[in-house]
Amino acid sequence: MSSVEFEFDHVGIAVSSLQESSRFYEALGIARGSNEVVESEKVQVQMFDLKNNCRVELLEPTSPESTVAKFLQKRGPGIHHICLRVSDIHATLKRLKSAGVRLIHEEPIRGAHNCSVAFVHPSATGGVLIELSQPDVRKF
Ligand code: CO
Repeated sequence: MSSVEFEFDHVGIAVSSLQESSRFYEALGIARGSNEVVESEKVQVQMFDLKNNCRVELLEPTSPESTVAKFLQKRGPGIHHICLRVSDIHATLKRLKSAGVRLIHEEPIRGAHNCSVAFVHPSATGGVLIELSQPDVRKF
């Protein structure tokens, strides 16, 4: 079996205001990273880049239909997901499917930074929403 690369990529935190929640990270002395709207998830994303190639991702919903909006309604602000960077998302999803793991996305969707991402259902992971992300090859 070929070895698959996994690295910790980011923690996603649901917030009601990017502006307010960014203050803490700025007070720490971390400069704001990229900011973009991710249409597929109906969220605006503010990244804070850490030295070890990991990031904190703040997520503010852009629509009441966003799953992040529903998360905020149910649980309030807090950790929404963690993201593992994978070298081959198609191979990873195929392996999970054949292992009977419950997936939210059977095929990758476009995430922040043009990454190919897919979410694994928390019921299959011990209660944590897990995002798998393959970086955009044109950038890396
Ligand atoms: Co994420």
